[in-house]
Amino acid sequence: MSPRAGGEQQSAGLVSTAWRLLSHIPPLIVLDPSKGAQSKVIYSKKEEVDENGDANMEGALIARDKVGVQDFVLLDSHTSEAAFLNNLRKRYQENLIYTYIGSLLVSVNPYQELDIYTVTQMKLYRGVNFFELPPHLYAIADNAYRVMCNEYNNHFILISGESGAGKTEASKKILQYYAVTCPTTEQLQTVRDRLLLSNPVLEAFGNAKTLRNDNSSRFGKYMDIQFDFKGAPVGGHILSYLIEKSRVVHQNHGERNFHIFYQLLEGGDKDLLCWLGLERNPQKYTYLIQGRCAKVFSINDKNDWKIVRKAFSIIDFTEKDIEHLFGIVASVLHLGNIQFEEDSNGHAIIRDGSQIKWISKLLGAHLSILQEALTHRKIEARSEEVLSPLNVDLAFYARDAVAKAIYGRTFTWLVNKINGSLANKDSTQKTVIGLLDIYGFEVLDTNSFEQFCINYCNEKLQQLLIEMTLKAEQEEYELEGIEWEPIPYFNNKIICDLVEQKHKGIISILDEECLRPGEATDLSFLEKLEEKVGDHAHFVTRKLADQKTRKSIDWVDFRLLHYAGEVTYCAVGFLEKNNDLLYRNLKEVLCNSKNSIMRDCFLLSELDNRRRPETVATQFKNSLTSLIEILMSKEPSYIRCIKPNENKEPGKFDDFLIRHQVKYLGLMEHLRVRRAGFAYRRKYELFLQRYKSLCPATWPHWHGPAAEGVERLIKHIGYKPEEYKLGRTKIFIRFPKTLFATEDAFEYRKHLLSKVPLPLFWDFVPAIKLEACWRGALARRAAKKRTWAVQTIRKFINGFINRKKPLCPENRDFVRLSQYHYLMKLRDHLPKNVLDKSWLQPPSILEETSEMLRKICVRNLVRKYCRGLTAERKVQLQQKVVTSAVFSGKKEGYLESLSQPFLDTRLKNDLNPKVLQLIRGENIKYVTPVIKYDRNGFKARERLLVLTQSSAYVVEMAKIKQKIEYSTLKGISTSNLSDGIVVIHVPEDKQQKGDVILQCEHIFETVTKLCILANKQSLVKVVKGRCQSQKGLDENPWLGTERNLQDGTSPHISPGIFDATGLL
Ligand SMILES: Nc1ncnc2c1ncn2[C@@H]1O[C@H](COP(=O)(O)OP(=O)(O)O)[C@@H](O)[C@H]1O
Ligand SMILES: [Mg+2]
Repeated sequence: MSPRAGGEQQSAGLVSTAWRLLSHIPPLIVLDPSKGAQSKVIYSKKEEVDENGDANMEGALIARDKVGVQDFVLLDSHTSEAAFLNNLRKRYQENLIYTYIGSLLVSVNPYQELDIYTVTQMKLYRGVNFFELPPHLYAIADNAYRVMCNEYNNHFILISGESGAGKTEASKKILQYYAVTCPTTEQLQTVRDRLLLSNPVLEAFGNAKTLRNDNSSRFGKYMDIQFDFKGAPVGGHILSYLIEKSRVVHQNHGERNFHIFYQLLEGGDKDLLCWLGLERNPQKYTYLIQGRCAKVFSINDKNDWKIVRKAFSIIDFTEKDIEHLFGIVASVLHLGNIQFEEDSNGHAIIRDGSQIKWISKLLGAHLSILQEALTHRKIEARSEEVLSPLNVDLAFYARDAVAKAIYGRTFTWLVNKINGSLANKDSTQKTVIGLLDIYGFEVLDTNSFEQFCINYCNEKLQQLLIEMTLKAEQEEYELEGIEWEPIPYFNNKIICDLVEQKHKGIISILDEECLRPGEATDLSFLEKLEEKVGDHAHFVTRKLADQKTRKSIDWVDFRLLHYAGEVTYCAVGFLEKNNDLLYRNLKEVLCNSKNSIMRDCFLLSELDNRRRPETVATQFKNSLTSLIEILMSKEPSYIRCIKPNENKEPGKFDDFLIRHQVKYLGLMEHLRVRRAGFAYRRKYELFLQRYKSLCPATWPHWHGPAAEGVERLIKHIGYKPEEYKLGRTKIFIRFPKTLFATEDAFEYRKHLLSKVPLPLFWDFVPAIKLEACWRGALARRAAKKRTWAVQTIRKFINGFINRKKPLCPENRDFVRLSQYHYLMKLRDHLPKNVLDKSWLQPPSILEETSEMLRKICVRNLVRKYCRGLTAERKVQLQQKVVTSAVFSGKKEGYLESLSQPFLDTRLKNDLNPKVLQLIRGENIKYVTPVIKYDRNGFKARERLLVLTQSSAYVVEMAKIKQKIEYSTLKGISTSNLSDGIVVIHVPEDKQQKGDVILQCEHIFETVTKLCILANKQSLVKVVKGRCQSQKGLDENPWLGTERNLQDGTSPHISPGIFDATGLL
């Protein structure tokens, strides 16, 4: 929890601020009262600064800082809530919206644009010690960033507070801070732009106007910004939590649906709206007007639309993606306008078919199936599926459910898509800073399932804060052997358990009610709660409450005593929201949609999965658990946002409202711990390194143990015993003011060392000499570096000139370097698969090695490929090898056939049972329909060719027309052209009728199977030329003129029939 571990290295940044700070050094900075002269000099410097006018702006800034205290730790009565509020109010009224509690930042929403987010401000905070400048979220952002760069670890900044308190604004400002202040390259500009522009897109789809906030995030967001080793932002990843889907179909008065709907109608050009079947007027859409405020003057939908459209192009969305995405947005609007009425049987039917046509077009779903899905429900009874018509109420329910599901899943798709474009493909290790902007504790007039989830999330995050800060603090003191009375604090694990415990917690009970057979209702759920957690100290219902409390709880309510206070939840709707059911037939329609986004969102595999999907509460619980895991592995920083009033009014400080927030943000608790403990701690070595110039005994070198050096040092500068404690490895300073004073003295000393003439400095260290020595040392260091550089370059050039010679001292290093580079580059450019024949050109000296490596690599790839083959694939490939041996380069159409897998049968139906009977006992290996040509007249007849282990059969319906035993097979011929003719040569005797001429569609497959089964690959002949009749070209309709066969009567057809000469 060091305020700024990287502070030591930033002394350069400090110099510029040092003079500015001198102007507000309070009298308490006089650390050593015996050195009155020192304090005089300090104040005279202040005048000097003022005269120069350098610090005018900063002077004003600092004067403002004196309003109240800028760190609550400095409050006299730190346990008093009134004093806390007083300080907050005083500062807020001067537009000082930020105040620290140690390293935690409290922010009060100003509801007006303040001049504190300029690039100049950003630069001011960059690399500057945490306590040196007025509190700001830039300081928090910078601190996390510096520590990350120095210690190479991961961080997160948790921004919490209630809706409208300024969380999202804070997270955007932090992102901007990194975008402006972090190093970047031209290449990385795109990443930076995408990081920044992901916000407007997510806000368009995930934010909405509520009563509390015109741009309220209706989802939780955790965003990792990834940095490379140079500290440049190189990628990002977003996790989203629990988008408020119910808003798609219903909004309270004074609230709107998600921004994107209004932006599309307001900003989308005429052609687009026409294509989507939409009208510009939002009043036309049922889903947009329930809050009766579709148009709000504080929101410029048209402008926002332009930003979103621009963002899409930068975030890598294709035109097709955008088309499908808006197709979905428009479909939701059309869905909302669908009305149902009753038919004579009391079943729902759609009143006007125009909307459904648009939906069918935009989602690429079949109109009648869609229509049916909206008015029927598919019920599975045993193995049968029955369509049951819905009544009007259920049809409306199904319509809303599908609108919510479509929107909710599209949002998740959007987040994934953005993640794809933010992903950094480079595998080198990155560090990250995560920004968590998540719903704060919510207490509304009526609290439902959503508030239950949100407040549970806050309990978990509070627990995290407790675990990470308070516990860690205490543990560290104990570890350091510092006497410190442990502070009792409220551990809210008991409430988290009440909600999330397996089998016993509220979520488990809710799930049980949702899943159990029978009539489960919200009331039966409430009863179950009473039965199972009724005796929990943090749970009350009307039945369980005492007389006094009873009045304030309704029969359908239950109340939880959260760490932040009591919240009464209305159980109505819990079961339905937790189930979040979408009828199966609606899912089927969406799975088969032609809209690619819908297909990505509704996977066919979901339909096959007969298990019930996880309930919403369980999904939320699981995602929270993994979020907590992510956060636990990182270093935390906290920003607590406060909303000053309900009217979004600048300058208005509503005591009642703020007191409540101070309580549930746990601020007093946090302050209590910070004050009881120590505000600052640092390792002896680091502390001494930084401040050793403040004491003659430690300057310029201290040779003893660092702990003793620090002891001497603080004695010299006059720390009082109550201001500090010395631990095993660190010094602990109780008050930030002590640290400020030390820091200021240090700045002043630095200035003296470089500027002020000797008399003011220690008598025994002449500053000029010191400066000269130091400059000399620096110059020597630089010269040494230059010499080294010259030698290295010379060696490199020499090596290059002699690189072709055998290895010798002149070229050894160069050759080694180029070998190293080649091998390292090769590592990243290895062929990816067996077909990839690329190989990095080696330098001549590495040719042999490269060839060996290439062979090893190819062998490995082949082995990997072979191992990955299934048995079926292996058989396929073996057959393809035979095909290749027989046909490759010989017959037309071979290349096209390669990609077509061989099948075991080409028959659509089963073989005739009689045939099966006849060839019983033989294992059928292959069946294909063929056309057999009579040797007399070449009449075409449809037949089946059946191949068994030992024979080939020519089958007609239920008869076996010909049996050819493989042992008698004399040869197989095909032409080199693209025809499907195959001639099976068999001896003519009594049984056999001579050569068989067949035409088959899959000639390669048929011949391959035949020759493998007959084991006569060598007898297959591919004969050149076209088939020509002795009598000239025959007009044979099924062979085509190219493929006319000889019109012979000989039962014995030689391969020569294909001969170009046409001779028999
Ligand atoms: N630092 C700030 N400066 C100026 N206005 C702010 C600031 N923070 C918040 N606001 C105002 O308050 C509104 C709500 O802030 P927002 O960050 O969206 O709240 P939350 O995310 O906590 O719900 C913003 O739209 C903006 O008008
Ligand atoms: Mg927000």
